[in-house]
Amino acid sequence: MTTILAISGSLRAASLNTALLRAAREHSPEGVEVVLYTGLADVPHYNGDLDDDHHLPAAVADLRARIGEADGLLVASPEYNHSVPGVLKNAIDWASRPKGASALQDKDIAVIGASTGNFGTARAQIALRQVFAATHSRVLLSPEVLVFTAHQRFDGAGDLHDTTTADLLRETLAALRDQIADRRAPAR
Ligand SMILES: Cc1cc2nc3c(=O)[nH]c(=O)nc-3n(C[C@H](O)[C@H](O)[C@H](O)COP(=O)(O)O)c2cc1C
Repeated sequence: MTTILAISGSLRAASLNTALLRAAREHSPEGVEVVLYTGLADVPHYNGDLDDDHHLPAAVADLRARIGEADGLLVASPEYNHSVPGVLKNAIDWASRPKGASALQDKDIAVIGASTGNFGTARAQIALRQVFAATHSRVLLSPEVLVFTAHQRFDGAGDLHDTTTADLLRETLAALRDQIADRRAPAR
């Protein structure tokens, strides 16, 4: 079983991006288990003075451990002002340390996103890919999941009713699963 930690960049209870991750869990392909990360609101602002074994906030230790234990990540983020929401960037900054040996180093990651607008978080996804280049993570190149006018694809309870998006989520998780397996396969 391939375990994927799903991280939403939105703290809203009615977040479309969190709903997208729940849909991904529901539509996950064979051999993939999606686990939702729910600790983002507890992660404090990055402070280098706290970034050592004696002072590390518990929420940060938990975040790093969960990323470290997962086989891969599925990150669904809103786009805020054409970029990555601060709360998500902050969590990535914590997770990116210690540099060169962080939980994000070599981690396989699929970046997806949902917006109410017409561009489906395209600009935020480009920005996130740049951040994950700095962390030496392995971001899945395709398929790309840009869920535009997302509010029209979920019902009032936050359940996805758009089969095209459901299929895309399944394909994305299958591609992430296969990327992880390929990398772990012994060299021929
Ligand atoms: C501060 C802020 C900035 C936003 N900037 C953008 C933006 O640049 N592009 C975009 O498509 N939507 C933007 N939006 C709208 C979000 O796409 C929309 O609120 C979305 O539902 C947020 O994701 P969530 O439902 O997961 O919380 C912005 C929303 C907020 C609150």
